[in-house]
Amino acid sequence: MDTSRGGNAVSSGTAQATNRERRSWSKEFVGRITTVAPVMGDSTLISFVAPEGLVASARAGQFVEILCRSDESFDPLLRRPYSIYAADAAKGELTILVRPYGRGSRWLCGQPPGASLDVLGPLGNTFDIAAKSRNLLMVAGGVGAAPLAMLTNAAIRGGLSVTYLMGAMTADGLLPSQLLPGQVEYVVATDDGSQGHRGFVTDLVPDYLLWADQVFACGPEAMFRSLRSVVLANRFGKHPPVQVSVERAMACGVGACLGCVVQTRSGMKASCVDGPVFDMDQVVW
Ligand SMILES: Cc1cc2nc3c(=O)[nH]c(=O)nc-3n(C[C@H](O)[C@H](O)[C@H](O)COP(=O)(O)OP(=O)(O)OC[C@H]3O[C@@H](n4cnc5c(N)ncnc54)[C@H](O)[C@@H]3O)c2cc1C
Ligand code: FES
Repeated sequence: MDTSRGGNAVSSGTAQATNRERRSWSKEFVGRITTVAPVMGDSTLISFVAPEGLVASARAGQFVEILCRSDESFDPLLRRPYSIYAADAAKGELTILVRPYGRGSRWLCGQPPGASLDVLGPLGNTFDIAAKSRNLLMVAGGVGAAPLAMLTNAAIRGGLSVTYLMGAMTADGLLPSQLLPGQVEYVVATDDGSQGHRGFVTDLVPDYLLWADQVFACGPEAMFRSLRSVVLANRFGKHPPVQVSVERAMACGVGACLGCVVQTRSGMKASCVDGPVFDMDQVVW
C-alpha cells in the first residue's frame, strides 16, 4: 500500500481481486489535514488533501470511510462513514463535518492540521436533481446538514432556487447561515425555541410542498419518520418526490458485509453501494 502523505491514491491490487474490490482500493488514500474549524456547537469541519481525480469525482450524497485511530492502535477496528460536505477542486481538498458521538468521531475531531487520515472514498450513490427541477427543498437535521450543503452549492451554481430547512436542539447546533450561498432561503427550527420555529424542522415542510419540485433530506431516523408522515399528509399524489440519505451503521463500506442493509420495496439494499440515498417512497420504514 502506498502510504505517501498528501493524498496519493493507492494503486496496488492482486490478480484475485474482484472488480468491486479493485474499485474501492483505487479510492484508498492518505490525506493530510489542512484545516480544522469548530462549528455547530460540538462539531468540527475537517478539510484534508485528496487525490485530484477523487475530488473531481465527488458528488453530493457520497461519503468517505475513515480509519479513526492512530497507527499504534486497533481501536476502533472498523472505518467510520462521513458524508462529504465539500469538494474543492482548486485546493484539491475534501471537507467533512463531524459530531463527536463516540470514540472514533472524538478521535477524528481531536486531530490537528498536519495530521494524516487513512481514507476510502468517495463511496456510495448521489442525490439526483432532475433536469426539469427548478425549486429544491432541503430538510436537514443535525450533521445531516453536511451532504445537503454540498447539494445546495451545486444547485445554486446551476441557477436553481433552494430553500434550506434546518433543525437542531438549540441555536448552537444550527449550521451558520454564512456557510450557505447568499441566494438560499434559510429557515430554522430548534427544539427549545432559541432560534426560529420552536419545534421540529418537519413542522415547516408543508408550507413548501406546493413550491418544491424535489425534496432532499438527511438527518436522524426519527426525522425521516416525521418527514414521511408530513409529506404523505400534505403532498399531491407522489409530487414532490423525496430523496433521503440514510445513516446505517457501516462496517466494510463496499457492499461485502451486508451490515448496512435497508429494506426497500424492491428488496434489501446495501446502503453503502445502493445508497445512502434512496427514494423515500421506496424505503420500508
Ligand atoms: C452514510 C453515512 C454518513 C454519515 N455522515 C456523517 C457526518 O457527515 N457527520 C457525522 O458526524 N456523522 C456521520 N455519520 C455517522 C457517523 O458515521 C457515526 O457517528 C460514527 O460512525 C460513530 O462512530 P464512533 O466511533 O464515534 O461511535 P461509536 O463508539 O461506534 O458509538 C458511540 C455511541 O454513539 C452512538 N452513535 C453512533 N453514531 C451515532 C449517530 N449517527 N447518531 C446518534 N448516535 C450515534 C452509538 O449508538 C453509541 O452509543 C454518517 C453515517 C453514515 C452511515
Ligand atoms: S457496510 Fe458492508 S455491505 Fe455496507
